[in-house]
Amino acid sequence: MSGRVVAVVGASGAIGGLVTRSLLERGDAVLGTGRSAASLEATGRDAPPGRWWACPLDLRNPNAGDRLVEVVRSGPGHLDAVVLAAGVVAFGDLESTPDDVIEELFVTNVLGPLWLLRRLIPMLSERQGTVVNISAVVAEQPLPGMAAYAASKAALTAADLALRRELRRRRIRVVDVRPPHTETGLAGRAIHGEPPRLPVGLDPAVVAGRIVAALEDPAVEEIPSTQFTSDD
Ligand SMILES: NC(=O)c1ccc[n+]([C@@H]2O[C@H](COP(=O)([O-])OP(=O)(O)OC[C@H]3O[C@@H](n4cnc5c(N)ncnc54)[C@H](OP(=O)(O)O)[C@@H]3O)[C@@H](O)[C@H]2O)c1
Repeated sequence: MSGRVVAVVGASGAIGGLVTRSLLERGDAVLGTGRSAASLEATGRDAPPGRWWACPLDLRNPNAGDRLVEVVRSGPGHLDAVVLAAGVVAFGDLESTPDDVIEELFVTNVLGPLWLLRRLIPMLSERQGTVVNISAVVAEQPLPGMAAYAASKAALTAADLALRRELRRRRIRVVDVRPPHTETGLAGRAIHGEPPRLPVGLDPAVVAGRIVAALEDPAVEEIPSTQFTSDD
């Protein structure tokens, strides 16, 4: 199953970085995106020649996907899959959460992925491609102090469920992944507020491993939170 071309959105992050390295080890080619060119460079440092393209972009820009399409066309020439592993989190009760934080959560976690995906659909359709979207456990079990983040992830999961059916006729598979809390440091990079006391989370390698396995298994359409265990 190696030899695919996969776009990893959020390749500069913890889960996206592990997914990228695992795909490269398996012989796939990766187009990695994130805002930070320096972090992307670090992710792709050991990539074999001709199997890594860095594409810095900001998901908050509605046209960001156009840049990714250009890099695909001028680089590998086709796209077999996209893994959306970018996102931001915020904590705190709604009353004290500023409007611009709520907006940023939705722009980054929901609108950005949808703006990007609609631009990738024609290329993915050419290859009977796969979309893997990382939502979160809070889409299933929303928690107090995380209303806006949970709502953004629930919106993403709702989009995935609709797109799974909508894109079937385009021969594109859509996989909604809802990991539990994972030890990536994301909570410490919250754009607002302090995280609640959290139990020890999953090893990020477990989440990345399940995502890479899902890319290879055409039967997988979702990975709910209950399907993650540290024993994987
Ligand atoms: N960690 C958890 O407990 C957990 C649990 C469930 C779900 N998730 C989800 O898993 C995904 C990955 O999270 P992670 O834990 O790996 O976090 P992370 O290490 O902070 O990675 C987040 C990634 O998103 C990118 N990003 C953020 N804002 C962006 C923007 N405006 N435009 C483009 N890229 C942007 C970051 O790159 P730059 O900063 O370079 O832009 C980075 O590559 C997120 O969607 C998160 O919500 C995480």
